[in-house]
Amino acid sequence: MSKKHEHGFGIDIGGSGIKGAPVDLATGRLAGERVRIPTPQPSTPEAVAATVAEILDDFGWKGSFGCTFPAVVQHGVTRTAANVDDSWVDCDAASVLRKVTGRDTVLVNDADAAGVAEVEFGAAGAKSGVVLLATLGTGIGTAVIAHGRLVPNTELGHVELDGYDAETRAADSARERDGLGWEEWGERLTRYFRHVENLLWPDLIVVGGGVSKKFDKWSPYVSTRTPMVPAKLLNEAGIIGAALLAHR
Ligand code: BGC
Repeated sequence: MSKKHEHGFGIDIGGSGIKGAPVDLATGRLAGERVRIPTPQPSTPEAVAATVAEILDDFGWKGSFGCTFPAVVQHGVTRTAANVDDSWVDCDAASVLRKVTGRDTVLVNDADAAGVAEVEFGAAGAKSGVVLLATLGTGIGTAVIAHGRLVPNTELGHVELDGYDAETRAADSARERDGLGWEEWGERLTRYFRHVENLLWPDLIVVGGGVSKKFDKWSPYVSTRTPMVPAKLLNEAGIIGAALLAHR
């Protein structure tokens, strides 16, 4: 870690945990050990913001920070709430975070933050063209980055497929829920990604989420026209992307 590099701070809000760390903005590496605190229940904006403040205080971080949220975020306002308390819907969440933490913040969708981080510091070949990042976890989060620029809130995990909300069939949680083997899940992913690539025609698909660590196990069963690579930054991508976006 170099003292000369500028640091930012990223927080990643999830349905089960809130994570944060300082980030070296030149290398995209964490500049301190990541802290994780379980998401308070009920996960109201005020309770979550208090946990965010705790993490910032823990590091003695006084400046502004970037923050992810697992739902649509339009100009600081959270529009949906899949795995968190309903009170986030249409909440001016950035203002709540600013008030409770006493620091300025930039709030973004979790997959968008991960996508920005992967393009900047992670997956090979992601620097040019149109990149689709899809995080396969509890849901499916997506980020579309065209020639280095993010198109926020694409929400392609929710396209309708065979009469279902796609993420309820193809997310990693669907694999676990339905007890699917890699091959069976691969078939669902093929169906999903073929649909999305016909709508979007990306140059590269980057797959994130915890299960991207096991890319070698399931990717042989996924057949797409678009080249597909695993994400590199794994569970740090949200923190890194948030810090980067706040800095920008
Ligand atoms: C939400 C997205 C989010 C994704 C991953 C989806 O259910 O709609 O906004 O990015 O889950 O957390």
